[in-house]
Amino acid sequence: MAGGIAHDFNNLLTAIRGNADLAAADVGPDHPATESLEEIRKACVRAGELIRRIMAFGRPREPQQELVELHEIIEEVLKLLRSTLPAGVALKTDFAAATPQVYADTGQIHEAIVNLTNNAVYAIGPRPGQIAYRLEPVHVDARQAQGIAGLRQGHYARLTVTDDGCGMDAATLERIFDAFYTTKPMGEGTGLGLSMVHGTMRSHGGTVTVESTLGQASTFSLYFPAAEIVDVQPADRAVLPIAQAVPLRVLYVDDEAALVFLANRLLTRLGHSVVGFSDPREALAAFRAHPESFDVVVTDLSMPEMSGFQLARAVLAVRRDLPVLMTTGHMRAEDHVTAQAIGIRAVITKPLVADEWVRQFELLSPLRAG
Ligand SMILES: Nc1ncnc2c1ncn2[C@@H]1O[C@H](COP(=O)(O)OP(=O)(O)OP(=O)(O)O)[C@@H](O)[C@H]1O
Ligand SMILES: [Mg+2]
Repeated sequence: MAGGIAHDFNNLLTAIRGNADLAAADVGPDHPATESLEEIRKACVRAGELIRRIMAFGRPREPQQELVELHEIIEEVLKLLRSTLPAGVALKTDFAAATPQVYADTGQIHEAIVNLTNNAVYAIGPRPGQIAYRLEPVHVDARQAQGIAGLRQGHYARLTVTDDGCGMDAATLERIFDAFYTTKPMGEGTGLGLSMVHGTMRSHGGTVTVESTLGQASTFSLYFPAAEIVDVQPADRAVLPIAQAVPLRVLYVDDEAALVFLANRLLTRLGHSVVGFSDPREALAAFRAHPESFDVVVTDLSMPEMSGFQLARAVLAVRRDLPVLMTTGHMRAEDHVTAQAIGIRAVITKPLVADEWVRQFELLSPLRAG
């Protein structure tokens, strides 16, 4: 199923689920319809799960990104690998405490570490050797970014895997990420290991680099974009205790009119006031006319006339302080990086459920109070 269809499907599910929730609240728990409404809700949850599975199957290279601690993945892989490796190979780990979390597909990262480890073991050969895994935070500045293909300026978690095996000459170094490039004897290697690692890192919004000295050592560096918490600033929460939901004036934008309608009713019931648009250009015009009359902007990500990112940028150019939330059915790893760079406060994944709204808006309430 193409991403576009999944996107539409998620919107429809959100409308079905949201309306069922509203109807359940209207009729109350004792009404005979409550049971049917609960069944609708359950079916929506399963349908949403199904879409995620179909999309994962159709696009195996698209990472199923979740917020992860890389050291946990590394530790798990090494625990599994250790017993299968030659006794002469020592594994060393060194994880810097301040390493940021990242959005990553655990399965793909697992596979990448296994590939790098197998290569290192092969390079070490029959004599004793060592493989070192180091995890650390790095900041790539504009100048460094120019020198590393596929990297942009920003914060990263970097995993380096260093072995003291045979190393590589310049000719090999130049080709190792090519598919089917191998120096192993016929029938022993596919030459796909590193091209897979490369593909994985690019689909995670990062990259992989290599350094090597022939006869001495090789180091592979995996760069994962840091997932700064795309959420309400912790300071806002700590300084101002949340007493109760404070009414907020919400500018709500989604190209799917049914969702604007739903959000309007849902948020109004929570005590907020909503101005909704299904055309982001109209929303932006309304915002520019009265920028002070909104406390929060909620925008969909993919819209035909103007993306949620473009809208968020334009809004924040007028009012840097305004919380902007983004809703989306499908967020790629690089989208999280973009959202963070723009200054979007939180990303709410569709299908949206009432609980999530309540939570996000409770977090924002102090902004108005203060
Ligand atoms: N740690 C390393 N030390 C020295 N050479 C390496 C190292 N890692 C990779 N190489 C070189 O890069 C080549 C390509 O690696 P890649 O993992 O893509 O394929 P492969 O290991 O040859 O095959 P397969 O992964 O299918 O077993 C290797 O054949 C080897 O020459
Ligand atoms: Mg390999």
